[in-house]
Formats: sequence, structure tokens, C-alpha cells
Amino acid sequence: MSRRPRLTVFGTGYLGTAHAACLASLGFEVLGVDVDAARARGLQAGILPFYEPGLEPLLRAGLRAGRLAFTTSYPAAAEFGDVHFICVGTPQRPGSGGADLTQFESCFAGLAPLLHRPCLVVGKSTVPPGTAAAYGQRLPGTAPAGTGAELAWNPEFLREGHAVADTLRPDRVVAGVWSDHAAATLREVYAEPLAAGVPFLVTDPATAELVKVAANAFLATKISFINAMAEVCEVTGADVLSLADALGRDPRIGGAGLRPGLGFGGGCLPKDIRALAARAAELGAGEALSFLHEIDAINQRRRTRLVDLAREAAGGRLDGRRVGVLGVAFKPGSDDIRDSPALEVAARIQALGARVAVFDPAAMDRASQVHPDLDYRGSVLGAARDADALLLLTEWPEFSAADPVVLAKAVARRAIVDARHALDAAAWRDSGWDYRAPGRPGDPAGLPGALGDSAGAPGALAGHPAGVPRHAAGPREAEEPLPGRCDLTRRAPKRFAVKRLDIYGSSSMAACDRRGLPSAWNWRAPPGRSAAPSTRPWPRRAARCRYG
Ligand code: UGA
Repeated sequence: MSRRPRLTVFGTGYLGTAHAACLASLGFEVLGVDVDAARARGLQAGILPFYEPGLEPLLRAGLRAGRLAFTTSYPAAAEFGDVHFICVGTPQRPGSGGADLTQFESCFAGLAPLLHRPCLVVGKSTVPPGTAAAYGQRLPGTAPAGTGAELAWNPEFLREGHAVADTLRPDRVVAGVWSDHAAATLREVYAEPLAAGVPFLVTDPATAELVKVAANAFLATKISFINAMAEVCEVTGADVLSLADALGRDPRIGGAGLRPGLGFGGGCLPKDIRALAARAAELGAGEALSFLHEIDAINQRRRTRLVDLAREAAGGRLDGRRVGVLGVAFKPGSDDIRDSPALEVAARIQALGARVAVFDPAAMDRASQVHPDLDYRGSVLGAARDADALLLLTEWPEFSAADPVVLAKAVARRAIVDARHALDAAAWRDSGWDYRAPGRPGDPAGLPGALGDSAGAPGALAGHPAGVPRHAAGPREAEEPLPGRCDLTRRAPKRFAVKRLDIYGSSSMAACDRRGLPSAWNWRAPPGRSAAPSTRPWPRRAARCRYG
């Protein structure tokens, strides 16, 4: 083959469209193929059917240059291509953890009988172990070109939101091949990134397909590990952010993928670990990967924990409360809501009787198709308006940049749950917010309960008029040092004074309201250990904190 190989890409989702547009930008002639005629027509018109930063300009440039086109015709694609990439979806099979290979099977079954001349068919879809071997055996018998049609496996590691960069400059190219010719063809396709120093790893196809699912399983494990540690932090008073930072500095561990919070979602990690575990069980290696069930369970618990934190923030119950939700996409930089932890939490809170107002910069259209019952607003401020609790569930940069002082004027209660650790906790607390985040020590001022219905908040603004923002009350009456065993901490919030007290024989923190009644308190741990939020009841005899 003296000319550059012509490429086809079957399946025009996030992976296929990014692959097609990026390869066209590298100078290849590329034909994208999809069974969905409307999608193919839209792409041919330069319209991206999903949100992916930087991809649409690349798509349009390829179309303008005449190097990129889209079709629904398999015969046209078979005639056109020297290398056929299969990028179709492999979702979770309904009612089981296994992968649904229907799309892959129908793509292969449609294409293979049309392959009359030598070509390379390259699997890029994420598939369970054993798939490459099965299709590799079938291809020569199905394609009229016989052994001239060869299968290779070349998994994709792109992340949504970074699809262009990850495709053009991947960390590595893995080529799972049965022949040197197949390896050479893939080298030619990836010549430009390889020339820029991207490693080219040649393996057998069985290893290549396993690299992909093993990578996703490892990433999921890392995320669930730090989220499991967040659970431990909550009972020990440690701070999961500091913990992740300290762990990540060990080069053997590394900080990437160690962000605690609401856990993983999307169209890949959750279904891939389930499919891998299911396949391993079928192959008799279920025990080896049984830990993936626990990884999944830890991940699911994050969502439940967030609902609990939302309830606490809203004053002990969700029924009848207004809750503002920032973010429903499964992660920032994407409009994907597949298995989105954020959207699930929003929907669960709504199901528990709250009125949920939502804002997301990209995912509202998709979310409203699945959950039309949520109240979709046009801005951060809109979602925050009159909220009894505000939840940051997807860490879009614009949410981190939100001004707590401005938002404080919009909400009914200054209570925020930062599920993704995206906010500056000190800045929000300094602006009078009750800030909560999973795996982090509670607000020094605690402020559990609101609107008079929470447990464990003796006297905290009891009788405060309904509908009047709680933060509006409570002058800073008690800011002078206290005698005896109480003294004032340096960062007392405006509406409460935070005292250090000796209770239960330990030096502890207490947030006291203007009558000197403690509303919440934290253990002050021995030197070198951080303070843990206490779950022990306030000792009645020490309950009153006397001023002056
Ligand atoms: C993931 C992998 O990262 C890609 O390498 C892989 O190619 C892709 O799946 C796939 O199989 O196609 P993606 O689903 O786009 O990519 O998203 P990630 O950036 O990995 O994030 C996955 C989820 O984990 C998100 O919900 C994110 O919020 C969460 N996450 C990620 C954390 O909670 N903590 C972290 O430290 C990292």
C-alpha cells in the first residue's frame, strides 16, 4: 500500500467521533459510519451531538478540508477503508453486570462479509476478555478477503472532556496484534503521536483488550479507595483532602485519580468494572476480582452519604425543603449524564420530598429528558434562589468561582454541601456558610439543624421565625475571652461564637449561640491529631457556656 491508508470509524459516539476528527486532522481520509441516519447527517453538517470541548472545530475543519465524511452505508465504508476502526458502544446488559455486545456483533456481522480486499479491522470498543480472540477467529471465515482481512485490538484511553488531547497525544498506544503487518499498519496510523514520543506497546490482542478494562478497574479502585478513606476520616476526624494530598506525593501511589467526593460515574468506569467481574466469574476467575464488587459498593455509598449530608444541611429533613443543585453531569467538561452520581443524588432528594432546582452548564437538556420533574434554572444564582441547602455535585470551574457573599443573599439558609471538594471551605465559612464536605471535619461551628427541627442543636436559634434566614440573627455578642476553661477560637463565624471547653475530660470545641448554649461541638484531639466531629451527646451538666 503506497498511499496512506484510508480509515473508517464505525460508531460516532464520544470515542468514534473524536477518533475520526482527530485522525482527519492528522491528514488521513476518514469516513465515519453510524446506523443512526440523523446522527450521521448532523455530523456531516458539522453539528456535534454532544458536548466535548475542542471537538466541533476539528470536526468542521475535517469536513471543510474534504478529508472527513459521514455515512450510514456499510458497503461504501467497506469499499473505502483500508483500516476499519470499530468504536461502537458496549453498554451494561440490562439485568446483569455483563457487557452487551449487540452493537459490536451487528457492526462486525454487517462489515465482515463486505470485506473483499486486504484490510485491518481494529477493535477499539471496550470489551470483556475473550472478545478479540472470538472475533479474530471468525473474521477470515466471514470476510471474502479471507486471511487478507485481519483483526487487531487497539484500546482507547480517552477521557470525556479531554477527548481531543487524549486522542492526539495519548499516554500510550497499545497495539494488540497477531502479525507484524498489523503492527506496522497501526504504526503508520499513529505515526505523528509516535514521532512526538508517545510509547507504542505491542502485545497480543488478548492482553490489549485486558489493558483497557484493567486500567478502568484500577482507576475505579483508586477512586473508591480514597472514598473509603473518606468514610474512615468521618469517624476519626481526619481530613480526607490532606490525606489524599499526602498519599499522592508518594510516587508509587500518585495523586491522579485520588480525588475523593461523590465517586465515579459515566458510561465507562461503572459498567466496565461490572463487566470485567462478570466475565472473570464466567471464566472461573471470579474470586480474583471479587474486590470489584466492593469497589462498586463503596462508590454507591457515596451517593447515599450525599443524600444524608444534604438532609443534615437542610436542617434534618428533606421533605418540603428547597434544595439547590449545582451540576448534574457525571463530571465537568461533559454533558454526559450516564450513571451520573450528581443526577442520581438530585433525583433521590426530589423523591424524598424536596423541591430541587438544578443548574449545569452543559447537561441540562439531557438531564431534563430523563428527569423532567426537576426544576431547571438558567444560572448558579437561579439554582441557589431561596434554597434551604445548596449542593455542589459536579465540579465545574464556574461553581468553584462562585462568590459565597453574593450567593448568601439569594439563599434562604447559608448551608452548602461541597460533594467534590471544589470550594474554598474557609472562604465560605468566613462568609457565614455552614460548609460540609464528605470526609472532612465538620464546620467548627457545626450548626446542625435549622428551622427548629433538627436533633442535637439545643437552643440553636430555637423559635427563629420561619422563613427568615437563620444567618440573619445572632449578633456577635460573645466574642470576649471566656474565663476558666473556655476561650474563643480565632475564626468564630459571625453568628455563633466558637468556644473551647473542657468536657468529658478533653479539650473540645463548641459553637455557642447568643444565649451561651452549645449548638455543636468537636473533640479536640491530642496534639498531632486533628479534631473529630463528635457524635457523643452534649453533656448536659456542661451544657451552658457562661460568658464573662
Ligand atoms: C474513563 C477513563 O479515565 C478513560 O481512560 C477511559 O478511556 C474511559 O473511561 C473509557 O473507558 O472510555 P471518563 O469516563 O471520561 O474516562 O472519566 P474519568 O475522568 O476517568 O472520570 C470518571 C469518573 O470518576 C467521574 O465521575 C469523575 O468525577 C470520577 N473521579 C475521577 C473521581 O471521583 N475522582 C477522581 O480522582 C477521578
